[in-house]
Amino acid sequence: MRKKTTTRTHAHERVVQRLWNPRSIQKLASDLATISCDALTEQTGGLVRPPGSDQIARRILRKDGRSLPTLVRAVQKASLHLSHPRYIAQQVAAPIPAAALVESVVAALNQSLAVWEMSPIATPIDRDLMARFKKAFGYPRDANGSLVPGGAFANLTALLAARDALCAGASKTGKARIAVIVGFQTHYSLSRAAGILGLGTDAVFPVPLDRDFSTDVTRVPEVFTAARGAGFRKFILVGTAGSTPTGSFDDLVALRDAATKEGAWFHVDAAHGGGLAFSSLQRWRLKGIGLAHSITFDPHKMMFMPLSAGGVLVRDGAHLATPLKEQAPYLFGSKRAWPDIGQFTIGCSQRFDALKVWLVWRAYGPQVWDALTTRVCDACHAAFRYCSQSDVLEPAHESQSNIFCFRLRRRGSAVAYDRLHWTIKETLNESGFAYISSAVLDGRRVLRLSVMNPRTSLADIYATLGRIESIAKTLIKRTENKREFMRSATSRT
Ligand SMILES: Cc1ncc(COP(=O)(O)O)c(C=O)c1O
Repeated sequence: MRKKTTTRTHAHERVVQRLWNPRSIQKLASDLATISCDALTEQTGGLVRPPGSDQIARRILRKDGRSLPTLVRAVQKASLHLSHPRYIAQQVAAPIPAAALVESVVAALNQSLAVWEMSPIATPIDRDLMARFKKAFGYPRDANGSLVPGGAFANLTALLAARDALCAGASKTGKARIAVIVGFQTHYSLSRAAGILGLGTDAVFPVPLDRDFSTDVTRVPEVFTAARGAGFRKFILVGTAGSTPTGSFDDLVALRDAATKEGAWFHVDAAHGGGLAFSSLQRWRLKGIGLAHSITFDPHKMMFMPLSAGGVLVRDGAHLATPLKEQAPYLFGSKRAWPDIGQFTIGCSQRFDALKVWLVWRAYGPQVWDALTTRVCDACHAAFRYCSQSDVLEPAHESQSNIFCFRLRRRGSAVAYDRLHWTIKETLNESGFAYISSAVLDGRRVLRLSVMNPRTSLADIYATLGRIESIAKTLIKRTENKREFMRSATSRT
């Protein structure tokens, strides 16, 4: 019995020694760093996504007994290459290399920011970062907030603060009747948050859009009236700074005025466009953001951070702390110089995501975001200009930032037209030459670019649009030949 126990103890000891062996850790770190560097410096010559992803994934899942770096290399090769200059699909960034490389240090330090005693330097850095964001958005010093895993969590947190500010004690009683008034293109996380918070998704009232796909401010009063008609007396009005489908910006000053008139909480979802606070040319699009009661912003979007780094700020910090204050004597203690962040975030374990954002800010200065946001917006605008002059493609709207939707000039039945746009996207993406996305505007499918890689050049944009035109022509020709064949086959019978 004792022998068996001793053997087991030795076996366990060997596991620990193997995992924590300093020399093999050094070697592993160097192998993994090489893979990270390759991923961060993808060139146009390669493919954005290897063809046959499904079979590759199955092969990797079946592989066993391979060394860890070999497996990681296989995963890297099979991944969607976000740092490839012709990755122009969704709002996930080609990360700033330094920020991505710092991630392994964040994981190695593994500081948890819920309580100061677990994060003696991480908490001060996180607070310094939030102070910088408050200043950037024009918020007062007593505003409060934190980094969160993303815009969806930030919107949930902001609506929680709003709910308890409008209906005191709502977290305790679960009782709150509040209408959430949003632009028609608002991100789904807001209605989801209304559902989670017990406000109900049927308390969400959409405002129609104007021609630029921004919330039509002239229609806001009628939506308040409709909400009042449905019995609501308390309101949250949401403005979007950089909408998901088209990157459109709402008139935040006008929305704030409308909110003030109705006694509503005003929330700005700047998950996508918050990074323009650092843009000398485009900052004006955020005019009025500092007047909002709460703000969502995502450094992992237009500040080019690796996932994840979202953020939420509440103008009157007390509104955040009240619904999230907890009694947990094993964590939260007496007052110290630095706060326990777990007292005003939904999460308990809180990753040290602040480090990568703070380091880029400190080491390179906020002007890097001026350069990077300008580049992605310029590349997107080049796509708008190209489509304006193309015989095959046409813009669905003017690009306001780095998201742009376009479509075929040629019209067809709704079903065929939608299917054609979808097939164009799928054909392009499967080829690996470039990677784009699609959206639905005014009920019809369109193609969509989201330029999230500052290394995407105008040449990459033109090459991608040229390839789309030729795919479209081939598909249209194939459909016409098929139709012709069917017609002649019918007339023969
Ligand atoms: C406007 C807007 N808000 C919120 C979100 C959700 O952000 P996340 O994906 O970081 O949770 C998105 C995501 O694309 C967005 O575009």
